[in-house]
Amino acid sequence: MTDPKSTDTAPLVRVENLEKTFQIGFFRKKVEAVRGVSFEVRPGEIFGVLGPNGAGKTTTIKMLLGLIFPTKGTLSLFGQARPEPEVMKRLGYLPENPYVYQYLKAHEFLDLCGRLCGIPANERKKKSDAILERVGLTHAIDRPIGRFSKGMTQRIGLAQALLHDPELLILDEPMSGLDPIGRKQVRDLIVEERKRGKTVLFTSHILSDVELLCDRVAIFHRGKVTAYGALTDLLKPEVRRTEIELESTSEALETELEAIGATIVREAHRGRAERLRVTMPGEEGAKRVLALALAKDARIVEVHETRETLEDLFLRDSNLATQKEDAHP
Ligand SMILES: Nc1ncnc2c1ncn2[C@@H]1O[C@H](COP(=O)(O)OP(=O)(O)OP(=O)(O)O)[C@@H](O)[C@H]1O
Ligand SMILES: [Mg+2]
Repeated sequence: MTDPKSTDTAPLVRVENLEKTFQIGFFRKKVEAVRGVSFEVRPGEIFGVLGPNGAGKTTTIKMLLGLIFPTKGTLSLFGQARPEPEVMKRLGYLPENPYVYQYLKAHEFLDLCGRLCGIPANERKKKSDAILERVGLTHAIDRPIGRFSKGMTQRIGLAQALLHDPELLILDEPMSGLDPIGRKQVRDLIVEERKRGKTVLFTSHILSDVELLCDRVAIFHRGKVTAYGALTDLLKPEVRRTEIELESTSEALETELEAIGATIVREAHRGRAERLRVTMPGEEGAKRVLALALAKDARIVEVHETRETLEDLFLRDSNLATQKEDAHP
């Protein structure tokens, strides 16, 4: 028996040194999709698995769900090493490409999903109507899913993941294929789930969504985790940059700014003079830019400091990982 107190804080997902090597083609060529990945997802958090295409996110999720077997390493869901049916009942899963029955109408599909996960007949209609409303599909309740747009298919996939009110949601690219309003709706839905005490693990390469939502993240790069932890700890406050907007600049000034390592973007806006947006790391760097601008009679329009964003972290991390890999493949 597990101690009931410890289950409150015990990780719902634990992955340790997980590896997956596929062998493809006649010559059994090896593809190392996941190479020694470890992370934990704690109860009540929104956890983001972030990484570029082909980084190993989906492969890791599939191993978690028992859809494919790890080559090496261990994993557990709700403290269980194997995804037994009782464990699966406690989670909702949105696959990367949701599989739906093309000829079933939205409400028929959800009724089928409800039956498969054991929701009693008298509750199924109420639950599926409520969930269709939450994902914004009430208007299409009687439409066969085969006639759905990509974004609508994504929403029905989300609806089936949420239908049985699971404790843990595992969503592989939940915002993919959605328009900006749809993405906001899904973000709100994820936050609502967390407020209701649920735990969410989702993959994405949309950095702004991850930054807005996640308590903690694991950044994947070529099958490895290159950064892991709370966003507040990962985004370095010392990696500050100053953005300085200048007008009435000259070519000579641009050359000098480039020589001191400033990043320059020329910005033309309708109804406004052309501006140079000059970005420079560190306080000393910013002072040098300002001194040069004043000496060359440019107009200083705006100065503001920015902290490191998730995009900076992502690029910094991917570049570092690539350099290390290239040095020691
Ligand atoms: N069944 C398979 N057989 C062979 N290689 C595979 C298989 N599944 C995935 N891979 C390879 O494993 C690597 C990781 O793929 P994966 O789908 O996990 O990436 P991902 O991070 O989810 O990418 P995306 O953001 O594009 O969804 C890729 O190089 C992919 O080609
Ligand atoms: Mg994927």
